[in-house]
Amino acid sequence: MIEKKYEFSGILRFNHWVRVVTMLVLVVTGFYIANPFIIPYTSDEPVNFMNAYWRMWHIVFGFVLIGSTIIKSYLFIFDRQSRNERISFFDFLSPRIWIQQIKYYMLVGRHPDNKGIYNPLQFIAYFIIFVTLFLISLTGLILHVHVYHEGMGGILFDSMRYVEVLMGGLATVREIHHITMWIFLLFIPVHIYMAVFNSVYGKSGAMDAIFSGYTWHKKHKDKK
Ligand code: HEM
Repeated sequence: MIEKKYEFSGILRFNHWVRVVTMLVLVVTGFYIANPFIIPYTSDEPVNFMNAYWRMWHIVFGFVLIGSTIIKSYLFIFDRQSRNERISFFDFLSPRIWIQQIKYYMLVGRHPDNKGIYNPLQFIAYFIIFVTLFLISLTGLILHVHVYHEGMGGILFDSMRYVEVLMGGLATVREIHHITMWIFLLFIPVHIYMAVFNSVYGKSGAMDAIFSGYTWHKKHKDKK
């Protein structure tokens, strides 16, 4: 008998897809900023501003990403429905679950009975992604205060300059911002592969969870 389990709330799923879209836009526009691959037609008039437009969209989506990261962090800490994410931390602390999970991935064992919804390897991968999100947002803000000196740029200027010095100067900040992008670029294909693997091999419809919110599990014999 198969039972339906509600794993991800509507806001959590919406937030996930916001991050997918923002990251896509940020990677494309970021590559352009690093190495402008389209050159506008030449004109005597100062009307092209191609670079500035790409950078503007990069920054707009950058702030959407920062907002979505703040919302996700809030949900992880306080949201009732996200409790199943929080308790994954206890699975992460259990050596037995680590071993069972690795055996499962090596196709020589069955899936452990986790308390939470993330296995220990997933939990540590998502933790690293959150540290990376924090780092790319911080370095993005430092770069931002050098581009726009009014509004948010002006408010953050002094504090960001302080962090910039701690990081070793603007050139290093730019380098860190660029390199952290590659952590996402390496993570994304592995993330998609693992989601498909768990969905197909685990027969739990894990992929559905991020669309509908539900996964499917075999009912234990002792339950009705
Ligand atoms: C997934 C997230 C992000 C990715 C993949 C990304 C990628 C990049 C890349 C590759 C560059 C070019 C660096 C270089 O010159 O080599 C860049 C520049 C920049 N990014 Fe991001 N970025 C992200 C998030 C952010 C955020 C959250 C902000 C903050 C609002 C931001 C603001 C900026 C600014 C201001 C620049 C410099 C523009 C300039 O040099 O004129 N980025 N980004």
